[in-house]
Formats: sequence, structure tokens, C-alpha cells
Amino acid sequence: MSAYPPEPWRIKMVEPIKATTREYREQAIRDAGWNPCLLRSEDVSIDLFTDSGTSAMSDRQWSALLRGDEAYAGARSFYVFEEAVRAHYGYEHVIPVHQGRGGENILSRCLIRPGTHIPGNMYFPSTRAHQELNGATFHDVIVDEAEDPRAALPFKGNVDLAKLRAVIAEFGELIPYVSLAATVNMAGGQPISVANLTEVCELAHAHGIPVFLDTARAVENAWFVKQREPGWGDRSLAEILLALCAPTDGAVMSAKKDSLVNIGGWIGLRDPALAERARGLVLLYEGLHTYGGMAGRDMEAIAAGIAESVDEAHMGARIAQLEYLGGRLDAEGVPIIHPIGGHCVCVDATATLPHIPRTRFAAQTLAAAVYVDAGIRGVERGGVSAGRDPVTGENRFPPLEFLRLAVPRRVYTRAHMDVVADSLIRVHRERDRITHGLEFAYEPDHLRFFQARFKPVSGSSIW
Ligand code: F0G
Repeated sequence: MSAYPPEPWRIKMVEPIKATTREYREQAIRDAGWNPCLLRSEDVSIDLFTDSGTSAMSDRQWSALLRGDEAYAGARSFYVFEEAVRAHYGYEHVIPVHQGRGGENILSRCLIRPGTHIPGNMYFPSTRAHQELNGATFHDVIVDEAEDPRAALPFKGNVDLAKLRAVIAEFGELIPYVSLAATVNMAGGQPISVANLTEVCELAHAHGIPVFLDTARAVENAWFVKQREPGWGDRSLAEILLALCAPTDGAVMSAKKDSLVNIGGWIGLRDPALAERARGLVLLYEGLHTYGGMAGRDMEAIAAGIAESVDEAHMGARIAQLEYLGGRLDAEGVPIIHPIGGHCVCVDATATLPHIPRTRFAAQTLAAAVYVDAGIRGVERGGVSAGRDPVTGENRFPPLEFLRLAVPRRVYTRAHMDVVADSLIRVHRERDRITHGLEFAYEPDHLRFFQARFKPVSGSSIW
């Protein structure tokens, strides 16, 4: 099992956790329609629903908040933020947005026309939803191994260049851009190599197609490049981050992940004309182009958070914590996605509950069971998250069906990780007791996993 280095921080402020009983939690998950997303957070003991916006800010970030310039236009805080993004990600034009999906909306509206096609290294729900809302069809060109939980490749986020070539050959000029992610969330936080990303850009550019990178967890990706990609071991995370962004034409960023803040994001671009169009839409949908839906203090916190995010002691401790949790599950035979990714440990729900068919949502069922067992909240990543095909209306069932345990940055300790591991091991040992899956009681149109309500397929419980 991996070493667990001491956290490179001290705890200065604490948030009490409410104790609950199993009976209390059973009632709570029923009231929440068997969807952990609809629980009240005070009913959750260890919240691994997401690493997005849930990080603990540092004393430096909190003091930066006080420097927030809340001027409507041209706030000093915008220029501090702009400089931090330019310096670390290398994009000339920095356009603030309230969070990642705000940026996805703007970029999709700028570039997508009905009937176009977008290749990418696996979909992310909000990214694909904006692409589809604007009339594009998404094509997954990730390597096949990304869909095999046991394939322990170093860069399971890589693009299969043959698949990309085939999409380009078929759709050519109908491709407005290639949509890349570093790391790939829906594959379990798997990285892309600098070499692969560079080749993708060369191929796309040879056909006049730009490439946009989802940089939400690009610093985590940089960590894996440093550990795993030949030639990069001596480079700093900051250098590798710049190298990942350098061949791309732009980025969309949810600062709620790597940048250690609770809200915020940006679009980074090189093309001045596209930047001008994007700023025009930001005015309509987000806010003025020098705040984009954020407060001045949010932009200050992001600037400070970006600098902290590339600190190797921080990232080393973060990844080691995930490896510790994953290592404990692995040692006890709980099936997880390998290798352990950058922001989460993912429990293979199909392997855990093989008796629950895809149409009965094994990962959603497992998420409910784990909450009831110990008050731990994870999120379904499988058939529910994948939604329906916009053309046929049929459910989409991606190859991977898993419970994602996403670990917030600088929030939980090793003792919390042990509680999570103990609970998962217990639920896995008693998995045969989970006899019924779930079906929809209410199914929303978009990003259905957030607000859906479920009911057990028979009886009143999943047990
Ligand atoms: N891209 C990726 C790879 C993401 O993981 C997310 C959000 C977004 C874009 C959208 O950003 O939330 O700021 O609007 N992921 C969160 C998660 C919600 O839990 O994985 P946002």
C-alpha cells in the first residue's frame, strides 16, 4: 500500500460533522428519492459527491478575498486573475465566467452550428450537453482501454489517433473543434500524455481544426505526466501545465477543481477575433467581460489558488491520499478502476452488483447503499449520468458504470479515508443483500443525475 505523507498544511478552522444513525439515513435517502444529490449536506458525514467547489481554501486565499475590488468594470482583481491565468496556462485572452459550464455554453455558442460533429476523449455530461444543445454530435475517440476498469495503462485519457482520423475523414469541415480533457473525469480521472495531446493538435491543425482543452484538472494531469511520461520527471508542475496547454487553441476552465476555490472559471483563447465574440456572449450570459459572474474577491482567490495548485507538496499529498484509499479497497478485493485517477476512486458497480441489470442502475443503487451504511456520499457515473440520446430518445449505457468517490482538496484526513474504505469493504462483502435496483420516479430532461428521483424496482427498498 502507498505511503501516506503528512498533509502539508495545518487545520485552522473546522466544520462540525453531524452524527446520524442508520435508521435516520435510510429515511433520508428515501426522502431524497434514492438520489444522494438530493440529500441535505448536513445529513452527510463524509461528502465525496464531488471535488468541485468543495476544497478548503488556504489562509492566503482567505486574505486575498479582502483585497477583492468589486468595481463593476475594470476591477483590479480582474487583472490579478488575468495575469495568474496567463502566467500558468499561457493563453493570451482570459475571459471570466461564473464556472465551467458557463464557459462551455459560450464556447459552444461561438463555434457550433447544427449538424456539426465534435470528437473528444470521452464525454463529460455538461460539456456534451452544451454541444448537443447547439446541434452537434459528440464522437468518443478515447483509447479503448479507457473503458476497461482493469487496464492499468499510464495514460488512459489518451486519444486513439486512428479513431480521430476516421472522424476527420468522415466529417472533415463539419468539425468545429476537437474537445479534449485533462484529466478525463468520466474515465475515472485518467490523464492524457503531453505526447498524445501534441499529436492530436498536430493532426487536427493539419486539417484546419482547432483544439480546446478542458483544464479543470490539468494540474493533476501534469502530476501524472511528471510521474509517468518519459522525459518529464525533472520538470516542475508549472512547466508541464504550460506544455499541456501550449499546443491547444484555447481552454475552458472550471476553477472549482484544481484552483482550490468554491466558485469561478474562465475561457482562455489565442485567437483575438474569437475572444471578441466570446466576450460579447459573456456580456449576455455571465456578466461584464471583467468579472463574468464572479465577485472581485472570487477572482483574487482563484489567482492565489492557481499558484498553490502547482505546488508539488500539495499535489503529492493529494494524489497519495487517493492512492491510500484506493489501495485499501484494492487490498480487500473491492473492484475499482485502475490506475487510481487524479480526483477520485471509482468503484466498479457492474462488477460489485452483477445481478442488477444496466436498466436498474447499479451505480445509483450502490451510491444509496453506501450512504445508508456510513453516511458517505458518492455520485453515480454510468447509465443515469449518460442520459438519453437526443435523436432516438433511448437511454445511453456507457461501458463504465461506477460509483465515484471524489475527494475534496485539503478537507478530509486519513481517518476519514479509513471510514470510507471500511464502509466500502463492508458493503462489498454484503453485496448479495442488495437485491433490487432502482427505476426513475422522476426524470429531468437535462443532466438528469442531479435532480432525478428513483424508486426501488420492487418493494420499498433496495435490500
Ligand atoms: N468539465 C469537467 C471535466 C468537469 O468535471 C466539470 C464539472 C465541468 C467541466 C463543469 O464545470 O461544474 O464548474 O460548471 N464537474 C463536477 C464533477 C460537477 O463533480 O465532476 P462546472
